[in-house]
Amino acid sequence: MALSIVILAAGKGKRMHSRRPKVLQPLAGRPLLAHVLDTARALAPDTIHVVVGHGAEMVLGECAADDIQWVMQHEQLGTGHAVLQALPAIADGHTVLILYGDVPLVSLESLRALIAAGHSSPALLAVLLPDPAGYGRVLRDADGRVLGIVEEKDASPAQRAITEINTGMLAAPAELLRRYLPQVGNANAQGEYYLPDIIGLAVAEGLTVQGLPGRLEEALGVNDRRQLAELERLLQRRQAQTLLEQGVTLLDPSRIDIRGQLTCGKDVVIDVNVVCEGRVSLGDGVHIGANCYLRDCELDSEVTVLPFSHLEGARVGAGARIGPYARLRPGAELASDVHIGNFVEIKQAQVGQGSKINHLSYVGDATIGRGVNIGAGTITCNYDGANKHRTRIEDGAFIGSGTMLVAPISVGENATIGAGSAIREDAPAGKLTLTGTRQKIIEGWQRPVKKTKPDT
Ligand code: UD1
Ligand code: CA
Repeated sequence: MALSIVILAAGKGKRMHSRRPKVLQPLAGRPLLAHVLDTARALAPDTIHVVVGHGAEMVLGECAADDIQWVMQHEQLGTGHAVLQALPAIADGHTVLILYGDVPLVSLESLRALIAAGHSSPALLAVLLPDPAGYGRVLRDADGRVLGIVEEKDASPAQRAITEINTGMLAAPAELLRRYLPQVGNANAQGEYYLPDIIGLAVAEGLTVQGLPGRLEEALGVNDRRQLAELERLLQRRQAQTLLEQGVTLLDPSRIDIRGQLTCGKDVVIDVNVVCEGRVSLGDGVHIGANCYLRDCELDSEVTVLPFSHLEGARVGAGARIGPYARLRPGAELASDVHIGNFVEIKQAQVGQGSKINHLSYVGDATIGRGVNIGAGTITCNYDGANKHRTRIEDGAFIGSGTMLVAPISVGENATIGAGSAIREDAPAGKLTLTGTRQKIIEGWQRPVKKTKPDT
């Protein structure tokens, strides 16, 4: 059976008080609409149609993909009107599934059941909510057969007491939508063309409409920042749960945030307040200390990241030790067993196996060999004010503390640089190179003394 999915995403989301359209608000680091598109794609439909209106260019700019047919709804006249805009592009014989760009947590399981129930007559996804305020209510007869949906603003007090709500998501044959939607009017409290009105029309023609039961969270939509924050926590909890099930140790599952994709090997341990963004991959036995931020990183097995480290666009080899308070910037490529210590910044640099940069250093645009020891407070002066230059340090070199390496420059194999040097020319292999003036002693020099304040 052919399947078409229509995602409604034209609304403004007034209550978000944002310059961005609601469906672009981020949930777990990605636009709400991207989550709904993931769900849609997982159902392997023949076509996906997204109805856009408010901020359409922005939505297309961030979510455009080859498998999406965009439909413009110039005026938001209601959900029924929105679906009608997409219908001309959908062939008869298709089952049409309607999703909402701002209802991101619906499960594949429920949607599969909904599609199966919507092959020959409309079917809707309903949820029992302790507090149904704001939602459309499902009307049923004494035998439990669905009769229709009434919007809260149009409902009688008795109808408002109903706690079974319409999630808005429904499935129906394309030809039935084509028959009923033009019959839907807007003579209601909001003056809108309501999509759920097709339920009443189908029942009036003698069709049986199934109201499938969904889980509470599947109904949750985002209308304001409070709901967005609630969904964020819900999704984060769910992601943490999945990690625990996969064998990852989370010292507190409620204190990890994954905004993107985190893949973990065996025996990974993650301490509290760790934020992962983009694609992060952690090999077997990796330990991430408290309060670390990782974005688009690849860490090989047995890497330890100590607390308060910031890693972005870095690749770290097996057994390396990073931090505490280390910063790896894009292009940092560390081989196995490298040690990067506190207040060290690495950018666009390869660091060879077993090399150590343990304290207060900046290494940028550099190639560092194996077994190199870079002393505290060493800086690669890579920028001359106009261009960046590279520093090369060969295997086994020892760079004394407080050294300035003015690039472009190279330090030979097993070379030693004396502490406090400003190295401006290549330092030869196997030799001690140092710069600076000879130490002086100034006789008779007096330490300045603090002036006493005159009495006031
Ligand atoms: C809708 C349902 C209600 C259901 C609720 C569940 C209708 C009339 N009511 O109400 O029964 O309980 O969802 O969340 O459908 N949209 C468009 N174009 C439009 C109007 C809306 O694309 O012209 C989009 C919105 O951007 C939004 C979605 O459709 O993503 C739902 O619209 P909204 O106005 O929020 O409907 P509700 O009043 O929440
Ligand atoms: Ca809504």
